[in-house]
Amino acid sequence: MSSKGAASGVKAEAKRSLRIGVIGAGVMGSNHARVLAGLPDITLVGVVDPLQAHRTRATDLTGCRTFSSLDDLIAEGVEAVTIAAPTHLHHEVALACIAHGIHILVEKPIAPSVAEGREIVAAAHRAGVTLMVGHVERFNPAVAAIKKALSGEDILSIAITRVGPFPPRMSNVGVVIDLAVHDIDLIRWFTESDIVEVQPQLSSAVAEREDIALLQFRTASGVLAHINTNWLTPFKARSVTVATRGKYVMGDLLTRQVTECFGFKPDGSYSMRHLPVGHDEPLRAELIAFIHAVRSGNVPAVTGDEGVASLEIAIQCLETPAKPTAASAALKGPRRVVG
Ligand SMILES: NC(=O)c1ccc[n+]([C@@H]2O[C@H](COP(=O)([O-])OP(=O)(O)OC[C@H]3O[C@@H](n4cnc5c(N)ncnc54)[C@H](O)[C@@H]3O)[C@@H](O)[C@H]2O)c1
Repeated sequence: MSSKGAASGVKAEAKRSLRIGVIGAGVMGSNHARVLAGLPDITLVGVVDPLQAHRTRATDLTGCRTFSSLDDLIAEGVEAVTIAAPTHLHHEVALACIAHGIHILVEKPIAPSVAEGREIVAAAHRAGVTLMVGHVERFNPAVAAIKKALSGEDILSIAITRVGPFPPRMSNVGVVIDLAVHDIDLIRWFTESDIVEVQPQLSSAVAEREDIALLQFRTASGVLAHINTNWLTPFKARSVTVATRGKYVMGDLLTRQVTECFGFKPDGSYSMRHLPVGHDEPLRAELIAFIHAVRSGNVPAVTGDEGVASLEIAIQCLETPAKPTAASAALKGPRRVVG
């Protein structure tokens, strides 16, 4: 084939409708289905969920077909799926899809344990299928603007706040696996470095699992980072600040306003500017990135190894024993201040 012919073959391949399915029609899976139903050049083959009510909701939302089992979806012929079933099922569902040569996007966290996460990564590698992990915050345009602002900068420290009220339905994980894992991924991504030291402070004020976490980290590149997360704040707040040698970058991930201070002068003065931020829906951008990775065969935007690395740090936060000082160990009384 001439190079012109090969190029047009690649173009035709890129345009061919990709047959894709969604596994799990809960909160996240419904959103996956809604977004996929609106994307060009793909066919949403259907959504799998064992619950009739959730299947009905998915059909009402997207008009797509639904199936009560994964086998029924696979029998229809799918090339790729997004896995938004509960985390404890990710390993089983991912391996079943990989065994059929199906490309997968697995919601975060990749699995309940590092060992299961690694097995998913190894199986995908052996089968030659694309594996991407749904760390959707990377696709938040405010986060993308912060990442761009950090290009070429010497990062010194990062502080992230991700707080809010208790979720309507409590799952069996606490704030570290549910929320902080997003920010662990962001710290690794911003710094392009591994986290090598973990200093967690956790507390269960109301829930059985930890509902307050103050996590401190040091990366291999020497960056200090801090995550403040809880389910005890009456409103949602998500912010990121990054200090570099040349800049101070501040981003509100909800209002999507990103500002940087720069041009520090010896007299303490500096300049400030708002940075341009896009409007994309993060989940839409994430799913487009997944489809692109499947079509091109390129490394996906968030690899399985990255998903496992972030999970490993989150689990380390839960397993690192708090080291009570003699004074804190003695303080077992009520926390109420006298005022
Ligand atoms: N990226 C994010 O910001 C984000 C946000 C929320 C949840 N999540 C992740 O998405 C996943 C799902 O969370 P959720 O909040 O949507 O949970 P959910 O409980 O709302 O939905 C899970 C759905 O999976 C269905 N299900 C159960 N067993 C199944 C099976 N064998 N096959 C197919 N479906 C099955 C359930 O009936 C339910 O409808 C979790 O891994 C969670 O950590 C990610």
